[in-house]
Amino acid sequence: MRPKVTLITGANGEVGHGLIRELYAMKDQPPVVVLDIRGLDSHMEPLVDTTIVGDILDENLLDTLMSEYEIEAIFHLAALLSTHSEFRPAAAHRVNVQGTINLLQLAVEQSRWRGEPVKFIFPSSIAVYGMPDLATKAAAAPLEEYAYTMPTTIYGCNKLYCEHLGRYYANHYRQLATTPEESGVDFRCVRFPGLISALTMPTGGTSDYAPEMLHAAAKGEPYESFVRPDTEIPFMAMPDAMKALLSLAAAPRDQLSQLVYNVTSFSLSAEEIATIVQEEFPGAQIGYAPTPGRQNIVDSWPREIDDRAARQDWEWAPDYDAERAFREYLIPTIRQHYQGG
Ligand code: SER
Repeated sequence: MRPKVTLITGANGEVGHGLIRELYAMKDQPPVVVLDIRGLDSHMEPLVDTTIVGDILDENLLDTLMSEYEIEAIFHLAALLSTHSEFRPAAAHRVNVQGTINLLQLAVEQSRWRGEPVKFIFPSSIAVYGMPDLATKAAAAPLEEYAYTMPTTIYGCNKLYCEHLGRYYANHYRQLATTPEESGVDFRCVRFPGLISALTMPTGGTSDYAPEMLHAAAKGEPYESFVRPDTEIPFMAMPDAMKALLSLAAAPRDQLSQLVYNVTSFSLSAEEIATIVQEEFPGAQIGYAPTPGRQNIVDSWPREIDDRAARQDWEWAPDYDAERAFREYLIPTIRQHYQGG
């Protein structure tokens, strides 16, 4: 018999590392199989059952997964982030969209064999929003899931479309078949704000000025922000991102009134982040050299998002407001990470 497993794609990214640690710490979890085109950093290897080095666009590889494992849940994290994607829009489409369809098809097949749904947990992003101008951004109330979804980045377009793909596979798959059948894909999506981890750096994102500022200060290096001091978007500390993914995955299906949920923790301007960082690392050199392209992207993302639906349906609440996130998680952990104490 094929072993029952949880599959994580893009496992070597910063969300992947966080999730692997959390699943490892939890009891009674199925073995974790990870897939990443870069493999998995060696210090993470002991925390997973199997590492597969490979591409989510490789259909032969996905067929092999079919024959070797019974996959109960898929955390589909693999993606090219927003800045990287802008330089390679066609590649972004392949990885972010075709890759997601490939995994959704895998979930359909798995569900057929299992006779039970496969949970498909998908991280989306505030990049799905597109505020038309700064005045609108400044005046807007926290955005609900379906307001201003006019993204300006290919990454945002990809994520928004994948949210719809998830809805299609969950609710409308094979709607013209003589005997309509359910896909068996139990699609659940959280829309994250900018994520900040004390242990890892994101690669190729546009909200990266916040983690970059913090990590540079901890390393004693000067940093120039690529956005203006007044630039404000929502953020979340990595432990809360893990809490969101795992709480949504665990929620009873019949309590979920929608497939896509905003989650948020706190909104800060670049200058407010710099102030906290400089209080904790006196002498940290933080300057501003906004680059118009990346500035425009962050300006198109909302100041605040409304996560009431997540709070109502699956009792979402972040553990870390800005104060706790920086003073109790980010700064102490990052000090230890770089300075050994
Ligand atoms: N943090 C992501 C990025 O900057 C947004 O989801 O691309």
